[in-house]
Amino acid sequence: MAAQHRPRSAGGLAPIEASGPPVSHAPSSPLAAAKSRALSGSVCVPGDKSISHRALMLGALATGRTTIAGLLEGEDVLNTAKALQAMGCPVRKVGAVWEVLGRGVGGLAEPSGDIDYGNSGTGLRLLMGVAAGHDMRVRFVGDASLSRRPMGRIIKPLMQMGLEIEEQGKETLPLTLRGTADLLPIEYTTPVASAQIKSAVLLAGLHAAGATTVVEAQATRDHTERMLRHFGAEVTVGERSDGSRAITVAGDAELEGRSVNVPGDPSSTAFLTAAALIVPGSEVTIEGVLVNPTRTGFYVTLAEMGADVVFRNEREEGGEPVADIVVRHSRLNGVRVPPERAPSMIDEYPVLACLAAYAVGETRMEGLAELKVKESDRLAATAAGLAANGVSARVDGDALVVGGGKSVRGGGAVATHLDHRIAMAFLTLGLGADRPVTIDDAGTIATSFPEFRALMERLGASFAMPEAARS
Ligand code: S3P
Repeated sequence: MAAQHRPRSAGGLAPIEASGPPVSHAPSSPLAAAKSRALSGSVCVPGDKSISHRALMLGALATGRTTIAGLLEGEDVLNTAKALQAMGCPVRKVGAVWEVLGRGVGGLAEPSGDIDYGNSGTGLRLLMGVAAGHDMRVRFVGDASLSRRPMGRIIKPLMQMGLEIEEQGKETLPLTLRGTADLLPIEYTTPVASAQIKSAVLLAGLHAAGATTVVEAQATRDHTERMLRHFGAEVTVGERSDGSRAITVAGDAELEGRSVNVPGDPSSTAFLTAAALIVPGSEVTIEGVLVNPTRTGFYVTLAEMGADVVFRNEREEGGEPVADIVVRHSRLNGVRVPPERAPSMIDEYPVLACLAAYAVGETRMEGLAELKVKESDRLAATAAGLAANGVSARVDGDALVVGGGKSVRGGGAVATHLDHRIAMAFLTLGLGADRPVTIDDAGTIATSFPEFRALMERLGASFAMPEAARS
């Protein structure tokens, strides 16, 4: 099949409104996935979510015009575009390309109303770092999922730099931040492996009077460092004697508008990859996928499980490694996934757990404490969804253990808890199950991968509204 162009959003999103409700989906649209015929074809997935948020934010902090091709037009990223617009930075779509007219470091304006970030932890946390460096007051709110997630991990280092929080001692949304144009540079060691904490501090550091350093024991995704350099910031990365990474950004920074090409999202790709591995006879190619080594732990694990997955045409695009990924249905073996791999595949555990249900033998995934504070408690939600579909799964401390080896019964209903990745993981599970797997809310998929259903169907999968939901 001929290559497909990168999908565009459902449309009409630009110019985005600076006021009005956040971009979010209608709740409670159930969907079911049943045993599929072989999947085949070649597709592109939408742009990487992490890179899309960063491109918009650095574009806003640069002087001059930034153009972004391949921006993910999922709800999370559109909420970042709206937030920047509300802070006085014009963001619009011109043809197929997004354009940001930057205000310069420290040049954003106080928004007139609350910033509603919907479901997006990444957008919110990174923008908190940006807001910290501005003499402005911003009240952040979000949906029920985001309002449960811990923000202390972000505001603690930012408060060391000079940020103030009106709701003293509170660590969940709603939160009102008061930033300052006189941020202090700090050295900060992240208490957990988190690119979001690292990025929030580095973005704040652009505004500080001196060099700001973040030390991380385990390497996390490095898109902020790469993109800061692309926009002209001074960034150095060193290794300490204990093996930790120290990333330093120079303060009082000046960034220049750039053009950015956003490669395909490897986390979205993971669902298509898992589907092709599950459904007998499948062969699928996903083109132009980001294969930055800080993001490819899922593929390392697949190789260990015996999956037939090949990276072809490896190249560099816009400072990031990219490849076409060819996947053929494979007989998989259960494996132990070590805790140190977690940062490089943190968003892929729900779909890996669903895939492990089809492997021979047990899969034990270790070091997953961070999964408890994602869009949902993904450890609990994944184990519950698997159990509801006849798969043996248990949470053992910070580990998730899935027993494979038998056919997957299916027939269960899965609670998605406003979590797009739980929704997509369990629809993927259903493609090989004896009976359909139903999720309670497919609308949540639009946060990161609005084209999920269309792309899966183009490859040969089919989804249906469950009977009960129609009546
Ligand atoms: C992200 C970092 C990860 C990841 C999230 C995107 C980013 O979160 O789960 O989907 O773009 O920096 P943590 O850094 O908190 O692990």
